[in-house]
Amino acid sequence: MKILSIESSCDETAAAVVEDGRTVLSSIIASQVEEHKLYGGVVPEIASRRHCEAINGVVRQALTQAALSLSDLDALAVTYAPGLIGALLVGVNFTKGLSMATGLPLIPVHHLRGHIAANYLAHSTLTPPFLCLVVSGGHSHIVEVRDYTDMEVIGKTRDDAAGEAFDKAARTMGMPYPGGIHLDKIAEEGDPSAFSLPHPKVDGAPYDFSFSGLKTAVINLIHNAAQKGGSLPVADLSAAFRQTVVDSLTKNFLQAAQDLGYRQLVLAGGVSANALLRRRMAEECRIRGWNCYYPPLSLCGDNAAMIGSQAYYEYRAGHVADTSLNARPTLSISYQP
Ligand code: KG4
Ligand code: ZN
Repeated sequence: MKILSIESSCDETAAAVVEDGRTVLSSIIASQVEEHKLYGGVVPEIASRRHCEAINGVVRQALTQAALSLSDLDALAVTYAPGLIGALLVGVNFTKGLSMATGLPLIPVHHLRGHIAANYLAHSTLTPPFLCLVVSGGHSHIVEVRDYTDMEVIGKTRDDAAGEAFDKAARTMGMPYPGGIHLDKIAEEGDPSAFSLPHPKVDGAPYDFSFSGLKTAVINLIHNAAQKGGSLPVADLSAAFRQTVVDSLTKNFLQAAQDLGYRQLVLAGGVSANALLRRRMAEECRIRGWNCYYPPLSLCGDNAAMIGSQAYYEYRAGHVADTSLNARPTLSISYQP
């Protein structure tokens, strides 16, 4: 089954063709990041306008790269939640129009379910059930993936998402948006023991996260140093910050796996590109004899191939929309349509 999938939930306009949920026939991503960089973050209205301009060409390129025409497809899929509403609406309306014109079924896909499915594209033997740490710019969840379309959040952040904390700390240290990747690179050169940062935990909720106190601690350190006319060693501070975030993510994730008896652990979302998180999880799982999976770097960030993968499983579960489909800025990953 060949599915053309479209993703426009944030600042990437993307289209892909994926076969049977596992094989990428094409994948095109038009990133707007250079423009949003000027403002230090995503400007929602600019994002919507750029999606409008890019979407037609991106879809054409995805078909050309797969050497297919619309008549070769079996279904269309689109990210409809969660994300920036004006950005989501561009992809949803475009795909609805294409569905009306071609008569192809329309499959609505949850963005975070797509991030999880990026792992199916890279690991052909991976099947649910497994425990997944979904860490992106907007979410930090520990998710029980019981089946392809049956999942439940068992832990989540009480305030900032991990990616958001990385980006804000990086910005205060003068790195360009989105700072997570820059902070990660610079941290490789630093000494994490040079600074002692607060280790966040949420009383009574062992699987939940909290990153805003940690972020504020870093921002205060930098501002205090600046007020005294000095500066801080950015590599060391980055290394300490990264280590503290990764400590918190891995501790809760491993505890949840231990408590619930999961032996397959999966990382997903933009922050799963983090070098220390990948190393640490691989090592902790090796020690325990558990299996650890994460997507290749090319599939960690937003893309449409992951949406096409998840769409295949949504379709098999009977999740098909009619033309009244609307975009939703928020939606739980455990929703049942
Ligand atoms: O999943 P994603 O591409 O978009 C959302 O759905 O939010 O995640 C983007 C987030 C950004 O906050 C970005 O800074 C972060 O992922 N990120 C990283 C790394 N690469 C991307 N954070 C830490 N280390 C990285 N290497
Ligand atoms: Zn994402």
